[in-house]
Amino acid sequence: MANSSNLQQAAEAPALPTGIFQFILFCTAGFWGWLVLMLVFETGQAAGSILVPYAVKAIMDGVANTSATGMPILESLATPLLLLAGLNLAEILFSRASGAVLVATGPRLRRSTANALFAYLQYHSPRYFGNHFAGALAHRISETAISVNHTLWSILCDFWPILVTFAVSIFLLFGVHSDLGLLVGGWVLVYISISYVLATRCQRYAQEYAAVRSHVNGKMVDAVTNILNAKLFARLGFEREYLDGYLQQEVKSGQRTFWYMERVRWFQFIAAALLKLGTVYHALTLWDSGTISVGEFTMSVGLALLIINDARNLTRRFLEFFEYVGNVANGLETIVQSHEIIDSPHALPLKVTHGRVEFNHVTFSYDGDKPVFKGLNVVIEPGQRVGLVGFSGSGKSTFAGLILRNFQPQQGQILIDGMDIQHVTLDSLHEQISLIPQDPSLFHRSLKANIGYGRPDAGEEGVVAAASLAHADEFIRAMPEGYDSLVGERGVKLSGGQRQRIAIARVLLKDAPILILDEATSSLDSVTEKTIQENLDRAMGKKTVIAIAHRLSTIAHLDRILVFDQGRIVEDGTHEELLLRNGVYSRMWAMQAGGFLPEEAEPAASGVREYAD
Ligand SMILES: Nc1ncnc2c1ncn2[C@@H]1O[C@H](COP(=O)(O)OP(=O)(O)OP(=O)(O)O)[C@@H](O)[C@H]1O
Ligand SMILES: [Mg+2]
Repeated sequence: MANSSNLQQAAEAPALPTGIFQFILFCTAGFWGWLVLMLVFETGQAAGSILVPYAVKAIMDGVANTSATGMPILESLATPLLLLAGLNLAEILFSRASGAVLVATGPRLRRSTANALFAYLQYHSPRYFGNHFAGALAHRISETAISVNHTLWSILCDFWPILVTFAVSIFLLFGVHSDLGLLVGGWVLVYISISYVLATRCQRYAQEYAAVRSHVNGKMVDAVTNILNAKLFARLGFEREYLDGYLQQEVKSGQRTFWYMERVRWFQFIAAALLKLGTVYHALTLWDSGTISVGEFTMSVGLALLIINDARNLTRRFLEFFEYVGNVANGLETIVQSHEIIDSPHALPLKVTHGRVEFNHVTFSYDGDKPVFKGLNVVIEPGQRVGLVGFSGSGKSTFAGLILRNFQPQQGQILIDGMDIQHVTLDSLHEQISLIPQDPSLFHRSLKANIGYGRPDAGEEGVVAAASLAHADEFIRAMPEGYDSLVGERGVKLSGGQRQRIAIARVLLKDAPILILDEATSSLDSVTEKTIQENLDRAMGKKTVIAIAHRLSTIAHLDRILVFDQGRIVEDGTHEELLLRNGVYSRMWAMQAGGFLPEEAEPAASGVREYAD
């Protein structure tokens, strides 16, 4: 689905607009009733507080007249006193009613914005997640959701009441005398304009300050993440100084911003003093000439004070407003980008019946420059179990990633059972291919939840059975909380081999017809590996299997071995055939002496070289 800005967006993701204004409208879609109610309450509150000087005027005029009429004071002032009480009550009720609406809407609005952004984020490609830090993205989502709220509250609870206050007071002052109305009205216009201009000037400093703070924060996160490294290298002191260097930058930038704000305050205080003195002086002259009453005099001064009170923080409010809007813009820029890999409009669900995988003239490069594969052709027959070997960086993981459509080849097609994976739904593709990645990562949830992830209906027994097959049951039971144990962020509380076994169990449970193992057993000791290998072989059954391994013994028994070198398949055959051929594979096998591949090929030995990655 494409929106007005012509982004390529996944149909399942919410169609988020990229414009700030449109985005805020989108987020507030279900909340209009509440927001209008809030506007009404805020108007009521502002009107209530601005009319207080009007009631005081009526009281003052009443006091001035009592001596003339001789009536008891409370009796003659009953109406204005009631008005004053009523206005105060109204102010309280309106402001608290607005508070209640804020409580009722605010958190829900944040939730709906965060939900929409997260749902949009989910459909980004692996490349996108490779280019952005997970922590930074999570922070962006919550920051954007908060800022949408703050932008709205700025408008509804700051700017709107100020506008009402200014408009009503100027109206009342015109009622007293047009001179006073003109004086204060003119002042308000000039003041708002100057405040706005100052705020836009200050915005540059404020943004720079925010950027420095976020940069320092990044440095802090990196330092905290690597604290164990710092300890291992006994560089804790260095880290403190390193961080302090950045904190010093923050001080400089902060002071620059705050000095500017100080200058703005000078302007505000002087402008306020001028308005106070001007109003008092002018109202006094009008009273002196008998044009206005004592009450009107008091009201005029009271209104001027009220305006000053509201206007005091206008520059700061503008600044905050810019900041919130800036945050929303930032969030949109980061998250609401084109989805790189989406279902084509007429995508069909893939139904794997045989499990034939075909690469047809596939050319692929990560950066559009140096291709990993150039016109690669290969067919993996249904139910075939294929081992991929080759030096580090030769393209094995990339090959697996392309089958999962993590990336889009620049040329050629990848077909599964004759269907181009470009034209099948991603969900159906991922449901029918299981991958045990090179560096499996787990949710910080219970082991049970992690193992059962691919099959939520598996139940306790299913989970335990899969764990037993993956040789994980034993160590899980030995943990104090067994299957309910939490595994730490990305699974850090488990050993590398334990984490790998959980990843195997979760894939065994998912039981998809195509299985890709990328170094699935590389962190296991040979004894454990052998046992799991047998279970894995059994689980493979009639599945199509692609197994990547550096330890050749793990794949030697498979139906077929493909030897990768710099994105080309240089040898293809069974273990025995390849040994007989006396080529790359047989040399690797000999060098490994049943163990591991050497770190590097002997340069003269063959065309096989490791190239830097
Ligand atoms: N996300 C990526 N972005 C850009 N380049 C990448 C990315 N992933 C891999 N590459 C590059 O693509 C080439 C092939 O990498 P690949 O991960 O497929 O190698 P591999 O055969 O799996 O190596 P290893 O045995 O070390 O896992 C390498 O040169 C690598 O630097
Ligand atoms: Mg790899």
